[in-house]
Amino acid sequence: MAEKLKAMRGTHDILPEEAAVWRRIEDRFVTLCGRYGFSEIRIPIFEATELFERGTGFATDVVQKEMYTFPDKKGRSLSLRPEATPSVIRAYLEHNLARRAKVAKFFYMGPMFRYDRPGAGRYRQFHQLGIEIVGTASPAADAEAVKLLWDYLSSIGLTGLKIRLNTLGGPDCRVKYSGVVKDFLKDNLDRLCSDCHDRFERNPLRVLDCKNKGCRAVIAETPEIASILCPECVEHFERVERYLEAAKIDFYVDPKLVRGLDYYTRTVFEVIHESAGEDLALGGGGRYDQLVKEVGGPDTPAVGFSLGLERVVLALKEEGSADVAGGGPDVYIAPAGEGAWEAAFELAGRLRECFRVWMEFEPRKLENQLRTASRMGARYTAIVGEDEIRQGVIGLKNMESGEQTTVGSGDVVTWLSRKLGG
Ligand code: HAM
Repeated sequence: MAEKLKAMRGTHDILPEEAAVWRRIEDRFVTLCGRYGFSEIRIPIFEATELFERGTGFATDVVQKEMYTFPDKKGRSLSLRPEATPSVIRAYLEHNLARRAKVAKFFYMGPMFRYDRPGAGRYRQFHQLGIEIVGTASPAADAEAVKLLWDYLSSIGLTGLKIRLNTLGGPDCRVKYSGVVKDFLKDNLDRLCSDCHDRFERNPLRVLDCKNKGCRAVIAETPEIASILCPECVEHFERVERYLEAAKIDFYVDPKLVRGLDYYTRTVFEVIHESAGEDLALGGGGRYDQLVKEVGGPDTPAVGFSLGLERVVLALKEEGSADVAGGGPDVYIAPAGEGAWEAAFELAGRLRECFRVWMEFEPRKLENQLRTASRMGARYTAIVGEDEIRQGVIGLKNMESGEQTTVGSGDVVTWLSRKLGG
């Protein structure tokens, strides 16, 4: 036998039972986004590498170390998308979507690719659900993003959630704070890990995100952003906090939250689940008032978030709420005897207009079919035998009570609708 092939490291199959959970939570996201006035956008899986260099940020780990980048046949550099935000903004500009409304609200979902070190909750192909609100600098938009994130995760049954919140200040404050952090770290370089030496050169703020124990001690002593924030940035942040308090969202301010992407200005946030903690946020986002300009558009403020679906499903499993009820067929059709197959096939066609129907492909003994129907969790078995066909009826067995009835073939849809609420 030929050697069996396996999925690539860092990728995974989502098998039918789990896919049902994914489908349920994706559908819920679509419904909720609709209620908040977001419209779906679908963007390409690959883009010009330059989009991520300019959008995600040339100095980020994502662009420096984690992108799947390759030349196409004409030698252009392409990359699989490591995130969706730069693509959404590119599409917004390319199709001049600003023309339609002052504020545009998008949601998206799909696979993203990062050459990360695979482990629990870390994949090389993972899946995100996300939103972007483009065209407003209002703190109410930051609050709406957090509220939607919160409502969504609560509505799929998750508890044990907290929002970790911070501000990085507007562009001026951010540059000033970066300088303050750099000055402080310069005198403490010998206490930092080798990765942080690298971060210190590329973007000193990223040091604040290091998980290394030695670095954490230095980080704890680093001056906080509050010490240098301008009054407008303070006001913006306080208003976001007041909105979140009014919405009764469980949040805490963490002055050391900086996030891994470089485009953030002012509000940043992550959603943390108690099972995984801060190191494996379920999702994150923030305001990015410079990005539209970076990718060639006019000065346009924006805010958004993305959630990692693998991590959301993991949290649901931790809480024991990853089951999807009612996965079995409504009706299992059991043809009994050679001459019953065409009638059974015709019945399956009629029933499939209203119900989930399973029918075998190979002849099997009736008792074996009933056993399978019961194992699959079918609610009814429709027995189509040669006698029944002659009499123009179908035998219907309630798989829970074991009760069996005979119903006229023409009445079977109505009868089942009454029983199953179809
Ligand atoms: P991010 O924090 O890089 O933000 O990713 C968001 C979420 O994607 C993470 O919290 C995590 O759940 C999931 N994620 C990231 N990398 C991996 C991985 N290797 N394996 C599994 N899950 C992963 C963004 O992507 C921004 N685009 C969010 C945003 C939207 N900001 C503004 N708008």
